Amino acid sequence: MTIFYFTATGNSFAVAKKIGGTSRSGSSFLSIPQVVSNSHLHFKDDVIGLVFPVYGLGLPEMVRAFLKKATWEADYAFAVGTYGCLPGAAARNVQRFIRKQGNRLDYAQSLLMVDNFLPGFDIGDQIAKIPRKQTDAHLAQITVDIQNRKPLDAKACFFWRVASVVMKQGERTVMGSKQGQRYIVNGSCVKCGVCAKVCPAGNIAVTERVAFGDQCERCLSCLHLCPKNAIHMRNEKSAARWRHPEVSLSEIIAANNRSRCEQPEA
Ligand SMILES: Cc1cc2nc3c(=O)[nH]c(=O)nc-3n(C[C@H](O)[C@H](O)[C@H](O)COP(=O)(O)O)c2cc1C
Repeated sequence: MTIFYFTATGNSFAVAKKIGGTSRSGSSFLSIPQVVSNSHLHFKDDVIGLVFPVYGLGLPEMVRAFLKKATWEADYAFAVGTYGCLPGAAARNVQRFIRKQGNRLDYAQSLLMVDNFLPGFDIGDQIAKIPRKQTDAHLAQITVDIQNRKPLDAKACFFWRVASVVMKQGERTVMGSKQGQRYIVNGSCVKCGVCAKVCPAGNIAVTERVAFGDQCERCLSCLHLCPKNAIHMRNEKSAARWRHPEVSLSEIIAANNRSRCEQPEA
C-alpha cells in the first residue's frame, strides 16, 4: 500500500499510519510536501491512498497541486479527509477531482478529529470533546472498509456543494498566502528553527529573527509546534496548541521540512 499524506499537526499522518499498518504487504508513506516538486509523479501499487486535512471545506492548496500532477495505477484507491467541525463536500469533491484527473478513486470518506483551526476553535475545548468525536471507532470502520476494498461514492447535498465553494474562497480571503507575515512572534522565541522545519512550504527563514515569505499554506504547523509557544495570531481562540499524541515532532519535521539552509537542532 502507498499512502500520500499532508499534515500540519499530525492528525492526518496518525490516520495514514493506522490504515497503512493493516496492510500485510507493508506500506510506504509519502509526504506530499516532499514529493510535490518532483517532475515524475507516477505511482504503482495494489492499493493507493490519500489522507489530507480539510481546509475551508476543501483541499489544502499543496494537495490540490499534487493531485493535478500525480498519476497512479492501483487495484483500489481511497481518500480520507480529516476535519474538526464541518467537512462540507470535501470528500465528494476530492473524489470527483481525482477521477477528473483520470485517476482511480474507489472510496472517499471524512473523519472527525481535533480542529486545529485557531481562529475558530479553542484547543482546550477540542481536547475535551475528543471522546464525543468518536474518532477511533469511526477510523476502525474506515480501516475495515479499506481492508475489504469497499467502494464508496461520497455524497453531498446541493447546499454543502455551494457552501464548499464559498467557504474555500472565504478561507483564502481571511488567510491569504501572505498569512504567515501576519503571525506574531513574541519574546519567548529562542530561534530554534522548529517553525522553519515543520513548514510544508519552506516559507520560514530563521536568522536573527523569524521571517515569513509569501508561500504560506495556512496550515498553522508553525504556531502549533513551536516548542516555546512563541508564534500567535491576533484572532486565535486559545493560546493552547495541538499535536496528535501518536505523531512525534520529529516525524512532522521529516514529513514537512523543505528548508534549504541548515537550521539549529530542535
Ligand atoms: C486553514 C485551515 C482550514 C480548516 N478548515 C476546516 C474546515 O473547513 N472544516 C473542518 O471541519 N475543519 C477545518 N480545519 C481543521 C482541520 O481540517 C483538522 O484539524 C485536521 O484534522 C488537521 O489535520 P492535520 O493535523 O493532519 O494537519 C481547518 C484547519 C486549517 C488550519
